[in-house]
Amino acid sequence: MPLMTWNDKLSVGVRILDDDHKHLVDMVNKLFDGMRAGHAKAVLGPILDELVEYTKVHFAHEEDFFAKTQYPGASTHKAEHDKLTQQVHDIQARYKAGALGILSLEVMEFLKTWLVNHIQVEDKHYTHHLNTHGIH
Ligand code: FE2
Ligand code: FE2
Repeated sequence: MPLMTWNDKLSVGVRILDDDHKHLVDMVNKLFDGMRAGHAKAVLGPILDELVEYTKVHFAHEEDFFAKTQYPGASTHKAEHDKLTQQVHDIQARYKAGALGILSLEVMEFLKTWLVNHIQVEDKHYTHHLNTHGIH
């Protein structure tokens, strides 16, 4: 069983951004599977790095659309992205420094909530705006 599954309720109505979100869900699941299989830091570290990097790529995709369409909620949304980036960087740094010990279920639950809450709360706010600017 994966930790989380993407479903239509998570759709933000823009295909490329839904694809990004699906990719992020896949990466969180990959980390979860690796954790459950008892994989070492040598294996899990790079997956976590990939998640951090793709998070930045994805946030940049959204912020580009905000800039192109002069989205009124852009600065609030960007502040949220900065906070989320900081949180995932903290996990990455603590994991690498050995401060987290093993990657726990608690950390995985945190990442799941971190992703789902942002999509369902902040991201869904831009759907109408982007759609009315011809971005689907
Ligand atoms: Fe997003
Ligand atoms: Fe976002």
